[in-house]
Amino acid sequence: MDNIKQRGVTVWFTGLSGAGKTTISQALAQQLRQSGYQVEVLDGDIIRENLSKDLGFSREDRCENVRRIGFVAQLLSRHGVIVLVSAISPYKSSREEVRQQIGDFIEVYVNAPLDLCEQRDVKGLYQRVRNGEIQHYTGIDDPYEPPQHPEVECLTESESVDESVAKVLTTLTQCGYIE
Ligand code: PPS
Ligand code: ADP
Ligand code: MG
Repeated sequence: MDNIKQRGVTVWFTGLSGAGKTTISQALAQQLRQSGYQVEVLDGDIIRENLSKDLGFSREDRCENVRRIGFVAQLLSRHGVIVLVSAISPYKSSREEVRQQIGDFIEVYVNAPLDLCEQRDVKGLYQRVRNGEIQHYTGIDDPYEPPQHPEVECLTESESVDESVAKVLTTLTQCGYIE
């Protein structure tokens, strides 16, 4: 890797809460770093504790959140960083906007059925939705618009995390972002 100028790219993981965005992006980051690449992960949960602390989950706020994440991703990826974004980003138009803005962009649809996400209930939020404590939850009473032509689709009901990571690595290699 020494003396090789890394070509930056944003890998954008979209999908329901509990589909596997954070898990796959963290595992991918680890593998890429081990191979010597500069990687940054922008995860919705972390961004919302910092850059988007003022935002909620209305359509307007989710779009603003995606716009802010896209802005940071663009800054980083144009300096050669591989940026891994994991955010629900439920609206197609918002994802298309950031794709156009960033250019070097790979969309990964992390696809798992809602009932599986709910069974996993990684953070106990689906239970809170069912208890009536949270409204406007993606996939329950708030929309999710699936990508129609993602560069990669990870079917996390049937694939292992390693298989999902391998799919993204293959696409990054085919597109010339990694060796
Ligand atoms: S978005 O739609 O892209 O702006 O969302 P994102 O920034 O990725 O934040 C999603 C995380 O916020 C938690 N959470 C909710 N998700 C969806 N809908 C509602 N109403 C909601 N309230 C809180 C949840 O932990 C999401 O993280 P993930 O990793 O997707 O489970
Ligand atoms: P998200 O960030 O999309 O809300 P998480 O990564 O937090 O999702 O949670 C996904 C859960 O599903 C984790 O408990 C993870 O271990 C499990 N899981 C099972 N198979 C996969 C897979 N192929 N890819 C990602 N996660 C998986
Ligand atoms: Mg997550």
